[in-house]
Amino acid sequence: LASVEVDVSSLTPGTSLVVKWRGKPVVVRNRTEQEMKDGEAVNLAQLKDPLARNANLPADAPATDANRTMPGKEAWMVMVQVCTHLGCIPLGQEGEFGGWFCPCHGSVYDTAGRVRGGPAPENMSVPVFQFISDTKIRIG
Ligand code: FES
Repeated sequence: LASVEVDVSSLTPGTSLVVKWRGKPVVVRNRTEQEMKDGEAVNLAQLKDPLARNANLPADAPATDANRTMPGKEAWMVMVQVCTHLGCIPLGQEGEFGGWFCPCHGSVYDTAGRVRGGPAPENMSVPVFQFISDTKIRIG
């Protein structure tokens, strides 16, 4: 399917769901206040990959917490949950930065899905998506 519609009405802060899109798992997470604060507090100079990797933004957009999300919908992470090292599926809400942890070779990602350690070279990618209502997202 070129695009997929996801009902996110059941996602309270701190919960996620995963859908398949173009054969890949895409995680939709309603982040907690703390997760957003942690993501915003990061000094961008510390990031291994300085780019947002957000298909909804220009390719050179910096990897701020906001640029990993949508304007006005900053709680919501929508991200291809595939490690940018060799393509394993990272585990959510694991690892040193409280984001994602890849069990294959130990890459760690923060609460905005930005790589913070391990062999992964890039932040996990944010696909083209939009909110088509308050409770529905279209991916692709
Ligand atoms: Fe994730 Fe290697 S595939 S760290």
